Amino acid sequence: MTTTLYYFTGTGNSLKMAKDISQNLGNSECVSIPKALEQDQKIEAPEVMGIVFPVYYYGVPQIVRKFIETVNLDKTKYIFVVVTFAKGLPGGAISQIKKVLHLKGKELSSGFYVRMVDNFILWTWDVTSEKKHNSLHQNAERKAEEIAQIVAERGSKVEQGLMEHIGPFILNYQGFLNKVNTGDKDFYSTEECNSCGLCAKVCSVKNIKMVDGKPLWLSLTCQRCLACLHLCPKKCIQFGEKTKKRKRYVNPFIKINELINED
Ligand SMILES: Cc1cc2nc3c(=O)[nH]c(=O)nc-3n(C[C@H](O)[C@H](O)[C@H](O)COP(=O)(O)O)c2cc1C
Repeated sequence: MTTTLYYFTGTGNSLKMAKDISQNLGNSECVSIPKALEQDQKIEAPEVMGIVFPVYYYGVPQIVRKFIETVNLDKTKYIFVVVTFAKGLPGGAISQIKKVLHLKGKELSSGFYVRMVDNFILWTWDVTSEKKHNSLHQNAERKAEEIAQIVAERGSKVEQGLMEHIGPFILNYQGFLNKVNTGDKDFYSTEECNSCGLCAKVCSVKNIKMVDGKPLWLSLTCQRCLACLHLCPKKCIQFGEKTKKRKRYVNPFIKINELINED
């Protein structure tokens, strides 16, 4: 039976997890959530489906919520989620997913948190130190094997984040959601921009348009995934002031082509 893994990713961690689980499972496919939502026809999920995405402000990215609200789950019997995160306390994404599914009369079969490299450089810390990357990648690969095994057996393991219920309040997840689309006003490109346009191509939600050779953030669909900022070859995309001093990160096992959303 085919399994579909729907994924949302900014810098490739969640795509790498989706691909690894898919490879371990066999007979499965990975489908980009933004691309699926662009289709005219209704998205019909198969009997077994997975959803893989990064935690944002201890919660679920806006587009992932929208996807679950939109997708037709009539045929779906087994639903699992895999949430990639960076800090020790992954927060409440799995509980939120359970609630959204519940509203559709569905139950979450399994849910997993996977710690990966931190790409969130908008506050007081930088990308996870490079010396920790290898062990994080290796642990994530092992976890993908474990998850695939549980999914293959249709197991029912639902992991708990340490701050499952209060985490999203502490990080003001709702405040983030309220302004995520228009919050892109803080992005800008500096004069080192060579007009390559990669930022617009890797914006999976098509929120960047090149105007006179420079990126323009459209304040329509931004999810704050930071793909534009981390993937810029000239490192000349910033968000406010703090990112000027910070490193950049893309999952090394993912090719840039795999992050491009073109028609
Ligand atoms: C807007 C934003 C908010 C984030 N919030 C959290 C968070 O609350 N907790 C956490 O552990 N990681 C957080 N992260 C880090 C990512 O969840 C983590 O690095 C993830 O693996 C990135 O996945 P991706 O490469 O598929 O985009 C955040 C990242 C971004 C871009």
